[in-house]
Amino acid sequence: MELPFAESWKIKMVEPIKKSTRAEREKWLKEAHYNVFQLKSEQVYIDCITDSGTGAMSDRQWAAMMMGDESYAGASSFFRLKDTITRITGFQYVIPTHQGRAAENVLFSHLVKAGAVVPGNSHFDTTKGHIESRKATALDCTIDEAKDTQLELPFKGNVDPKKLEKALAEHADKVPFIIVTVTNNTAGGQPVSMQNLREVRAIADKYKKRVILDSARFAENAYFIKTREKGYENKTIKEIVKEMFSLADGMTMSAKKDGIVNMGGFIATRHEDWYEGAKCFCIPFEGYLTYGGMNGRDMDALAVGLDENTEFDNLETRIKQVEYLAKRLDEFGIPYQRPAGGHAIFVDASRILTEIPKEEFPAQTLTIELYLEAGIRGCEIGYILADRDPVTRENRFGGLDLLRLCIPRRVYTNNHMDVIAVALKNVFDRRNQIKRGVRITWEAELMRHFTVQLERLG
Ligand SMILES: Cc1ncc(COP(=O)(O)O)c(C=O)c1O
Repeated sequence: MELPFAESWKIKMVEPIKKSTRAEREKWLKEAHYNVFQLKSEQVYIDCITDSGTGAMSDRQWAAMMMGDESYAGASSFFRLKDTITRITGFQYVIPTHQGRAAENVLFSHLVKAGAVVPGNSHFDTTKGHIESRKATALDCTIDEAKDTQLELPFKGNVDPKKLEKALAEHADKVPFIIVTVTNNTAGGQPVSMQNLREVRAIADKYKKRVILDSARFAENAYFIKTREKGYENKTIKEIVKEMFSLADGMTMSAKKDGIVNMGGFIATRHEDWYEGAKCFCIPFEGYLTYGGMNGRDMDALAVGLDENTEFDNLETRIKQVEYLAKRLDEFGIPYQRPAGGHAIFVDASRILTEIPKEEFPAQTLTIELYLEAGIRGCEIGYILADRDPVTRENRFGGLDLLRLCIPRRVYTNNHMDVIAVALKNVFDRRNQIKRGVRITWEAELMRHFTVQLERLG
């Protein structure tokens, strides 16, 4: 008999989690204005709000922290991190930052001016925020197929080369760079193929433009290339990663994902002019160039995390857990963005809460229902997250309306996946009784989903 699949690690340290009653959850959620970001973590049983900074570090990472050099300038921890990044990506210039959005802030302060147009594939909300707050435009060139959640495509995060070419033909003089997000978080943690990265490179070269990879989940993207793209099955993850970055000019990184640290980020590039430009913004925003917002010990943990998470076994364990949850949802007929993404399952709320109009935010309503059902905290990736159009101030209802269930790395077991699946099934089974959604009572102008206040209707 063939042996079943099992995790590539064993557990050395555990943290207790607490269940609650429905009455307690009703009270807590009301106090949180029906925004799960406002809940306290102890009010949550299984936390799937994000896979960002929520992973479990390995014994090797904890050991590396003891070697942290906390010198203000020239810390050896920085050089260990820089050497690892250069070895893995091929980029020789590295600026650490405290997280991914800080990397965007520092690099975009140098590169994005008012009136600029930045084409990409479903820019993540902080990326979009850092472009739009500079009075520039984030132009989405994702393939149309990504919007059909039921279509099974191996690389649903791809850039549409025709849309990109059109964007460059129309706006070439305004484009400071092209940004490709790997994996494509907003479209459902969907990967981008090597072939697509090559096509983007060719178009960029034609218009003499540079390419940035928003690399939060670059290693998971490489896993999908290895397992889904012809010609890569026998390459190592590290070889694939090297090739991905060889097709780009630089990267912004939220190390809280594929770096498996709780905090951290960086910019890396092969271009001295980008490094020199960004450097000037790192010092006032983040800190001196050899720490840029990170502790020495955290840079050491990140260096080890990057090395570990560019190994196949670690990635296979992770992606197979996401697939396991997907299979359980399939048993219950619950629709989600297919195929399962790298870091999360994106449940298609608009196909479940069909009686709730867009204006009452179906995905946010589903997020609320799942929390009330079992204390499971997901996150709306939909119409609230999409913010308002900066010019018309109208809600943007053009995209997908999803409940994202992120799976933190090396944290939960498949028993937790079973609880999530059954809780969602219970909500799904009573979907026709859920007829009203929520109304916004207060919102911030930008990135409103973190702090929005809501009222339940009906
Ligand atoms: C694709 C992508 N880019 C950028 C970011 C921003 O990173 P951070 O949360 O570390 O600021 C995120 C975070 O979720 C992300 O998923």
